[in-house]
Amino acid sequence: MAERIEVLLTEQEVDKRIQEIGEQISRDYAGKKVHLVCVLKGGSFFMCELAKRITIPVSIDFMSVSSYGGDTKSSGVVRIVKDLDEPLTGRHVIVIEDIVDSGRTLSYLLDMLGSRGPEDVKLCTLLDKPERRVVDVKVDYTGFEIPDEFVVGYGLDYDQKYRNLPYIGIVKFD
Ligand code: IMP
Ligand code: MG
Repeated sequence: MAERIEVLLTEQEVDKRIQEIGEQISRDYAGKKVHLVCVLKGGSFFMCELAKRITIPVSIDFMSVSSYGGDTKSSGVVRIVKDLDEPLTGRHVIVIEDIVDSGRTLSYLLDMLGSRGPEDVKLCTLLDKPERRVVDVKVDYTGFEIPDEFVVGYGLDYDQKYRNLPYIGIVKFD
């Protein structure tokens, strides 16, 4: 089926908001270092843009997860496909995500990372669909709250397509 992409958030709007979050994180953690943990693949575009706008020392690491049975909805238990390279002990960790939807993945991940001895763990997401929440997750930094629509761009995919769009679009089938 052919799909069409309708712009929800322009490149300028997204850039402006990422700049604001970068400034806020730099203020909130003034005098400290932050360790950004990117959840692949979706969070990677956001993390790179955000990291460039943080003015305090930054280190980065990546992890990749997949849900058991290919369906997060059934269990909420995620399998680590690629773990972090470095320990989290004593670090100020900020998990960087593309989107929080049901909250199942994040809730599991935050518990797991929290058990590795970090100084603190916060969550920063580019997008949040609060209407879809099933599991309560505390989001510390949110780019945009969006309606319950399937979105792509800025790292988010539909069938592995559209991650490279520099804006956020809604996938329309008509
Ligand atoms: P959840 O919060 O555990 O339901 O899962 C969030 C994950 O589902 C995100 O990291 C995305 O990979 C994927 N996801 C949820 N909503 C969308 C969307 O609108 N577009 C693309 N991927 C999405
Ligand atoms: Mg994701």
